[in-house]
Amino acid sequence: MIVLGIESSCDETAAAVVAGDRRIRSNIVLSQLDEHRPYGGVVPEIAARSHLVHLDALIARAMDQAGVKFADLDGVAATAGPGLIGGVFVGVTMGKAIAAARRLPFLGINHLEGHALTVRLSDGLDFPYLLLLVSGGHCQLVHVAGVGRHTPLGGTIDDAIGESFDKTAKLLGLGYPGGPALERAAATGNPARFDLPRPMRGRPGLDFSFSGLKTAVRHKVAALGPGLDDQTAADMAASFQAAVGDILADRCARALDVFQERTGQRGPLVAAGGVAANRAFRARLEQVARDGGTRLVAPPPPLCTDNAAMIAWAGIERLGLGLVDPLDLAPRPRWPLDQVPGPVAPPPRRRAQGARGV
Ligand code: KG4
Ligand code: ZN
Repeated sequence: MIVLGIESSCDETAAAVVAGDRRIRSNIVLSQLDEHRPYGGVVPEIAARSHLVHLDALIARAMDQAGVKFADLDGVAATAGPGLIGGVFVGVTMGKAIAAARRLPFLGINHLEGHALTVRLSDGLDFPYLLLLVSGGHCQLVHVAGVGRHTPLGGTIDDAIGESFDKTAKLLGLGYPGGPALERAAATGNPARFDLPRPMRGRPGLDFSFSGLKTAVRHKVAALGPGLDDQTAADMAASFQAAVGDILADRCARALDVFQERTGQRGPLVAAGGVAANRAFRARLEQVARDGGTRLVAPPPPLCTDNAAMIAWAGIERLGLGLVDPLDLAPRPRWPLDQVPGPVAPPPRRRAQGARGV
């Protein structure tokens, strides 16, 4: 099975061709960073226009690199949400057009499910697993039982984790995009220099909160006065990253217990989404998994940040289950993971006649 994947939900225009045997035949990501940098963040209208300008040629390149023609495809998968709706429209419309012209099945993929299933592409992992999904717009712990079978166990009650990285990096003058810049700065900083809060740590439940941490950084930076020197910025970045690491470790350790109660199985723990590219967090979560009697499985960093291989793969998984979408599928700016349709459960077995009351 060979599927073309299209991703355009944020500031990366991406196209990929993936095969059912888990081979990534091509995977091209065109970042729009330079177009958004002057604004210090993603401008939705600029993103949508840029997807429109570049997507055609990008798909042609992805097909070329993969050495396939449209006639070789078994399906076309495009991110149908959640995301910046202008960009999602561009990708979905392109995907539908190819599917209609070539009479191929179309698959409208939930971007979060793309992240959630990547580990099956990269590592061939079996269901079920405990997923920590950490990206620019999300921070969630999810019981992944199958394709379209996701149960959220906890999530952020305020900021997403990537968002808190991006805002903190901006505050520290570390540039854009914030996540990788903050990680780089933190590598040369002293994580013990600033005493920052760890919201929700030790609390019951599996929810997260990051806004208090972000505010604490803002107050400390204000107290230091104008003109943060490089070392102080690095120390603050390291202190912030350590605080976030402690929060993630606490929540994931608890989540392993909850997951075991639900499934009778200890992990595995999976980390996915852009923030899972962070080396410090990967090391930290590996330790949490080991201490918890299981292992961490995380896709390689380029498959953690947004890409189209994960969309093509989710398409392969869904196509394999017959979960094809109609060509009038509407793109969705919001689309929680637990609303992703899965295979219809087989009807409960009817009791044999005459067995009533037995
Ligand atoms: O999954 P993703 O590429 O896009 C969304 O679906 O949101 O995640 C992007 C987020 C951004 O907030 C970015 O700053 C963050 O992931 N990120 C990182 C790192 N690389 C990307 N955060 C921390 N450390 C990193 N190395
Ligand atoms: Zn993403």
